[in-house]
Amino acid sequence: MKRTMLDNFLRRSIGILGTAGVISGPGDCEPNLGFGQLNLGFDELDPGVSTGESKPERAKCNPQSVESNSGSDVVLDFFLGDCIPGIKKLVKPGTVDVVVTSPPYNLGIEYGAYDDTVSRDEYLAWTIKWAEAVKDAMSDEGSLFLNIGSKPTDPWVPFEVAEVLRPIFELQNVIHWVKSIAVAKEDVGDYGAIVSDVAIGHYKPINSRRFVNDCHEYIFHFTKSGNVSLDRLAVGVPYQDKSNVKRWKAAKEDLRCRGNTWFIPYETIQSRIKERPHPATFPPRLPEMCIQLHGLDKAKLVLDPFMGLGNTAIACLRQGVAFMGFEIDEVYFDEAYRRAKSEANT
Ligand SMILES: C[S@@+](CC[C@H](N)C(=O)[O-])C[C@H]1O[C@@H](n2cnc3c(N)ncnc32)[C@H](O)[C@@H]1O
Repeated sequence: MKRTMLDNFLRRSIGILGTAGVISGPGDCEPNLGFGQLNLGFDELDPGVSTGESKPERAKCNPQSVESNSGSDVVLDFFLGDCIPGIKKLVKPGTVDVVVTSPPYNLGIEYGAYDDTVSRDEYLAWTIKWAEAVKDAMSDEGSLFLNIGSKPTDPWVPFEVAEVLRPIFELQNVIHWVKSIAVAKEDVGDYGAIVSDVAIGHYKPINSRRFVNDCHEYIFHFTKSGNVSLDRLAVGVPYQDKSNVKRWKAAKEDLRCRGNTWFIPYETIQSRIKERPHPATFPPRLPEMCIQLHGLDKAKLVLDPFMGLGNTAIACLRQGVAFMGFEIDEVYFDEAYRRAKSEANT
């Protein structure tokens, strides 16, 4: 399938009060200009919000509920369309604090609308384009957390992507997203909670004599300066040996930096089609940890240019942070909005 380019952006919004009350209507909402008054990084609605015209069932949000809560509200905006023109058109330069995203990996994954089989050269040239748009949108102290994986027969993609981004960003941290890990009791020794061998998390088994199962992906943390201070203890872990809390001057509380190996398992699901209708998602916990590591107090606006099923939006909802996301595929876009709305209503 060809890559779909949309000039107009259908926009859907969810408003929340901090981390709690939902202020958008419980049903589907057409874009509500009232949200624009909050000035969370976008200029104006594209006048041609027309791609949803064939969906007359979408109701209007109740503008009263927006107005009555304005001031303390947080808005999550979902845009249907290509992120490159979308960011340039709708995101005010320098306003985004955190970008958490996972672009297509150019591994031939079968998405609905996006063609993941373009040549590597074309893919890398496109990577530069979206990264430049993202950089313009980011504040000088902003963070881009770029999740990317590979496959055994094509292990270079993450490194090739990192390399083309080298002239654009500083690579401040490299984090490994560990999806599954086996820990042997004998390697751990006498370690309280671990009483036997454990093998935890989910992975896609590979039937091969030469490749091992692929149980991790990268999260590249790019910044403009390489010198952005982080809230390391926001995703810290308690000391195993509590005597360290007193011994180490830096240890003011029972937390240490987690480091760059993050075990984040997928939730167990019964039906992929019904519960995760997308071939390449990350769990909401991943963007949640990225936002926390950047610093929740500094994260006023989060962007995901490649929204998929909206897991970054869900992370933002859970933390009461404003969000803007783009998705080129209408099926994923609708599902992202539906899931976020359902999360907001729980
Ligand atoms: C790896 S997936 C992201 C999944 C997402 N992190 C999640 O957890 O659901 C990449 C997504 O980017 C979308 N995409 C591809 N090109 C795009 C573009 N130019 N603008 C916006 N979205 C695009 C694809 O349709 C796909 O859903």
